[in-house]
Amino acid sequence: MASLINLQRRNLLKYAAIGMASVATYPVWSQAIEFKRVNQPSADFHPDVEIELTQNVTDIAIFEGEKTRVWKVTGKVLKGSSEVIDNNEGTYLAPTLRFKKGQKIRLILNNNLPAQSILHWHGLHVPANMDGNPMYAINQGETYIYEFEIRNRASTYWYHAHTHSVTARQVYSGLAGLFIVSDDQEMALDLPRGDLDIPLVIQDRSFDEHNQLSYSSHMMQRMQGFLGDRIMINGRPDFVLPVATRTYRLRLLNGSNSRIYKLAWDDGTPITVIGVDGGLLERPEQHGFVMLAPGERLELWMDFSGRVVDTELTLRSIPFDASTHGGGMGMMGGGMGGRGGMMGGGMMSVSSMPSGSDYPVLKVRVTKKEQSNDKLPKVLTPITALRVTDSQNAANPKTITLSMQHMSALLNGRSYKMNDIQPDEIIPVNTLQLIEFDNGFSGGMHGMMMDMPHPMHLHGEQFQIVKREVNSGSQENYQTVAAGFINNGWKDVVLVMPGEKVTILKPFNDFKGLFMMHCHNLEHEDMGMMRDLLVQ
Ligand code: C2O
Ligand code: CU
Repeated sequence: MASLINLQRRNLLKYAAIGMASVATYPVWSQAIEFKRVNQPSADFHPDVEIELTQNVTDIAIFEGEKTRVWKVTGKVLKGSSEVIDNNEGTYLAPTLRFKKGQKIRLILNNNLPAQSILHWHGLHVPANMDGNPMYAINQGETYIYEFEIRNRASTYWYHAHTHSVTARQVYSGLAGLFIVSDDQEMALDLPRGDLDIPLVIQDRSFDEHNQLSYSSHMMQRMQGFLGDRIMINGRPDFVLPVATRTYRLRLLNGSNSRIYKLAWDDGTPITVIGVDGGLLERPEQHGFVMLAPGERLELWMDFSGRVVDTELTLRSIPFDASTHGGGMGMMGGGMGGRGGMMGGGMMSVSSMPSGSDYPVLKVRVTKKEQSNDKLPKVLTPITALRVTDSQNAANPKTITLSMQHMSALLNGRSYKMNDIQPDEIIPVNTLQLIEFDNGFSGGMHGMMMDMPHPMHLHGEQFQIVKREVNSGSQENYQTVAAGFINNGWKDVVLVMPGEKVTILKPFNDFKGLFMMHCHNLEHEDMGMMRDLLVQ
């Protein structure tokens, strides 16, 4: 432990030295001293639930024949009911964890991997040193202790590795799982539960002829993000969901590195959305299709009654165009060889299922008849609408420009650097902030810019979407996705399309320290499309 803290001190000294020139101008450096890894349980924290999570290199049988080497998290309940975790054995998925709002939990993370690593609780409102910022990464053989109270409302949250510059690879290897929170408000509603409440983690992967996960990091893959050629549901290939002729609650997580889904039932059944990232909506919404970007979650109410036993239904990803019409694919345009076809906007893909193409995602099979008379509630949970006039910077929104150029993916022209807070990245604690993500909306397109959708994620509290604006040159493509956005409710990821500006309101309450903002296309994140915000 002593050595850990010393190491941390040395790092801080190093950062302080690098930042010396800035010290005078930015008093924030004094704050840096507060950051230290937590590797001891605190005596005055009394958890309701205590779980040990251990990361190991493991071989599992995903396919017949050769086993697949994955990075697997396995959980053990030390305190509380054993039902709070499902280890998802036989898959690379990390355990599904289930908690209640208000519970105090302790999560003991042991890293047995031959690499540094750290886990982040995506969507949860926790103190900065419990949030899994890359600066807290632990080495093989080390332990990190997370202790926090669950303040979030009921929803489908998740967790995943957040290790500096290798997040994409680590999540791909298996370091991601669900973190489901329930609360009294949700329990009071008559929603399908138990076996009728089904989490579905959607991810894409590629396997080689030895059944091993393949992940290359050549330039094309990094610029566009990894696209696999096989859809995995809950870590399984060829997954089929058996259902009875009744209503289900389906919780979808897009846990893919970069793949964006435009989901629709193949028989035209509308999609009934009851919840998004940060929990249930105020009222259900019906859409012909829904967009699901990396990191986003959607909860669906799906009624299979009246269907014929032994029939199938497929949730497909249907075509959309993600690039700006006729727009500047300058650097990717010429000469890049790759198998697979061209995307709508001219980007070549190395996947046999390019982004925006048509492919099946989830197969459902009706296996038995069952009587039920579930009624979709007209009203779900109340949501307090945030108001622009309550924001601290109503007249002066904080603009975050998104850009990709050459080999870099940037936020406000900056690449990620650990502990590198600039004056415009400081946010006063207990304020509401008006933030706009500008993806080529105002700037226009220059030759060397690459137009891509960016699913933007902010750590800490959930936000609300205020408005979406699209420039005229991007309208045509935008219309292939627009009707699939759910802009109501609490969000922690918002997909920002090329030529679009999305304005959000985000509270920064309770906790000081570093909270990240980044693109949840994990290859983009690792390329530097990430910054820390210092709340103080
Ligand atoms: Cu889901 Cu900073 O991540
Ligand atoms: Cu991005």
